[in-house]
Amino acid sequence: MVRVRTLITGASSGLGEGMAREFAARGHELALVARRTDRLEALAAELTAAPRAARVVTAALDVTDDEAVARVVPELAATLGGLDRVIVNAGVGDGRTVGSGKPTANLRTARTNFVAAIAQSEAAMEIFRAQGSGQLVLVTSVAADRGLRGAQTVYAAAKAGLSTFAEGLRADVHGTGIVVTEIAPGFIRTDLNEGMTMPFAVDAATGVRAMVEAIERRPAHAYTPRWPWSVLGPALRLMPMPLVRALT
Ligand SMILES: NC(=O)c1ccc[n+]([C@@H]2O[C@H](COP(=O)([O-])OP(=O)(O)OC[C@H]3O[C@@H](n4cnc5c(N)ncnc54)[C@H](OP(=O)(O)O)[C@@H]3O)[C@@H](O)[C@H]2O)c1
Repeated sequence: MVRVRTLITGASSGLGEGMAREFAARGHELALVARRTDRLEALAAELTAAPRAARVVTAALDVTDDEAVARVVPELAATLGGLDRVIVNAGVGDGRTVGSGKPTANLRTARTNFVAAIAQSEAAMEIFRAQGSGQLVLVTSVAADRGLRGAQTVYAAAKAGLSTFAEGLRADVHGTGIVVTEIAPGFIRTDLNEGMTMPFAVDAATGVRAMVEAIERRPAHAYTPRWPWSVLGPALRLMPMPLVRALT
């Protein structure tokens, strides 16, 4: 079996936890990080109890702590003897209408979903450049395709920024052994969107399977699940504003 060492941020719940399970089932060695270490440790214990389980290491990491990101990512890489893939997945979904006088959630979303992704990518790309290989996976959203109103305005803007960032990184490493993959999920039921009305939503297991299969293909960009989001994402870009308002 080919040795694959994957670091996942935000692995304590939802899509990150699900991807950890899927990659572990494929025999990948894993480095799992998040703030809730009790959940990471329980997950690691479960994954390593399986027959022929590969190594799983965990670490506490708040991705908005730039210094901690710069220290913890290379420490985990050293523990595993290198990293083949880093999945920048940690994210939050809070938001308020801009101008409501309550900017805290919007600022936290921008810092976690965009600024912190730059710090995570910096740490990952430094390792990949030294190795001459690696796959950086940035988890964006279909929300990156269009400016959205109300509670989604900053979330969509942060994901659009992350999408453009991914393209710039791809231009940087074009023709090298380093691959940059953007995964744009549609609606997948997790803690992030609990209670939200979501058309075409799938359960976490279905969504995670689509993400893992896409990541393994190493594309530049993939909507997950592919249907209907590979049609709706590009369509969202072309819709007149009243229709976007009505749908989102
Ligand atoms: N679910 C969807 O429909 C959907 C759609 C499009 C995009 N996405 C994206 O997919 C990613 C995962 O979301 P999810 O649905 O799995 O949500 P989730 O179940 O709420 O999981 C979010 C994860 O991010 C971690 N996280 C949040 N803030 C963090 C911080 N400051 N430092 C470190 N870790 C942090 C959380 O861990 P701790 O709290 O333990 O730190 C948790 O493990 C996000 O980037 C989200 O924007 C999700």
